[in-house]
Amino acid sequence: MPPTMIALFGGAGPDWATRQVPVPQPGPGQIVVRARSVALNNADASMLTAADPTSGGTGKEYQAGYEFAGEVTAVGDDVTTPAVGDRVMGTTPGSFAQYVLADHRHVLPVPDHLDYDVACALPTGLLTEHGALMTGGFRAGQSVLITGATSSIGLIGVQIAKALGAGQVIATTRSAAKHDLLKRAGADKVLVAGEQDPVGAVLDATGGKGVDVVLDHVGGPTFAACLPATHVDGAVVNIGRLDTTESTIDLDALSYRHLRVTGVSFGFTRPAELGAVITAAGEQLLPAVADGRVRPRIDTTLTFDTATRAAERLRSHQAHGKIVLIVP
Ligand SMILES: NC(=O)c1ccc[n+]([C@@H]2O[C@H](COP(=O)([O-])OP(=O)(O)OC[C@H]3O[C@@H](n4cnc5c(N)ncnc54)[C@H](OP(=O)(O)O)[C@@H]3O)[C@@H](O)[C@H]2O)c1
Repeated sequence: MPPTMIALFGGAGPDWATRQVPVPQPGPGQIVVRARSVALNNADASMLTAADPTSGGTGKEYQAGYEFAGEVTAVGDDVTTPAVGDRVMGTTPGSFAQYVLADHRHVLPVPDHLDYDVACALPTGLLTEHGALMTGGFRAGQSVLITGATSSIGLIGVQIAKALGAGQVIATTRSAAKHDLLKRAGADKVLVAGEQDPVGAVLDATGGKGVDVVLDHVGGPTFAACLPATHVDGAVVNIGRLDTTESTIDLDALSYRHLRVTGVSFGFTRPAELGAVITAAGEQLLPAVADGRVRPRIDTTLTFDTATRAAERLRSHQAHGKIVLIVP
C-alpha cells in the first residue's frame, strides 16, 4: 500500500474537498479495503450540512462516506475472514477514500460477476431492510407493507421481502408514474398516496386483516396510518422519516391489535450487533444478490472529481436510486 491516499472530506464548505491523507493500517479486528466504488446515502447530505462552516455548521473536518466495495489489501492480526484479495462490500464511516478501514464483521463478499459500482450500492439497503424485517419478526408467507417504497433502500426492501418468500408485498409511492418501477421490483400491489385511502386499500388487499409487518420509510401521518393497516399481533418498524419525524398515533389501533411498534437506526447500532445484522443479511440474501433477484437501482455514476455534482444530486432529492462514485 502507498503511504498516502486521496479521500473526500466534509467540513471545508458546502461540498466535499479532496485531501491527501495517510493510508490507514488495520488494528485488531480490522481490515483495509482498496475501495473501487462508493455510494452516497442521505446521511452524507446531513453530515455535509452540519459541518459546513459557510452556513453556520461546525467547520470540523471529517472523512466522509459510509458505503464501499473493493478488494481487501490488509487484515489485522486476529482476522481470519475476509482474506487479502477478497472482493467485499461494506459500510463504515469514512468510506470515500482509496483505502478504507473497516471492522471485518461489517463487510460481505461480493458475488462473482457483480461489478463494484453496483455492489457498493447494496450494503445499506441489505442490512437495513433485512434487519428491519427480522426486527419485525417476518416469516415466509407473511404480508409486508413498505411505505416510501421507491426510496433506494425501499426498492431493496421490496426485492428482499419477495426473495424471502413474502406472501404479499404492498408498496407505496406518492407518484403514479412509479407504479411500474415498483411492480418490476416485485410489489404485488402498489398504492399511490393521495389517490386512495391507504388504510382501506391495505385492508381490502388483505381480506380485511391488515399486513403482518410494515417497513415504514416515511414517518409522520403515513406512520400513523400504518397501525390500523396492520394485522393483530403484527409489527410496524420505522426505518426512515422522509416526511417528518413527528407522528400522532391512535393508541386504540395500537392496543386493540396488540401491535409491536419499533424503530431501527443501524448507524447507531453497536459494532458487534451490527456485525450480527450484516452476517444474517449475507447468509439469507447473498444467493438472491448473486442471481440478480436483489439489485440496487443506480441513479447516477460519477467520479471523485465530480463529487460536487453528486452532492447536488443527493440534496436535490430528485435521484431515483443510488448515486455512485468511482474511486480514482
Ligand atoms: N434506519 C436506518 O438504519 C436507515 C438506513 C438508511 C436510510 N434510512 C432512512 O430511510 C429513508 C430512505 O432512505 P433512501 O436513501 O433510500 O432515500 P431516497 O432514495 O433518497 O428516497 C427518495 C424517495 O423517497 C420518497 N420521498 C421523498 N420525500 C418524501 C416525503 N416527504 N414523503 C414520502 N415520501 C417521500 C420519494 O418517493 P416517491 O416520490 O415515489 O414518493 C423519493 O423518490 C431515509 O429517511 C433515510 O434517512 C434509514
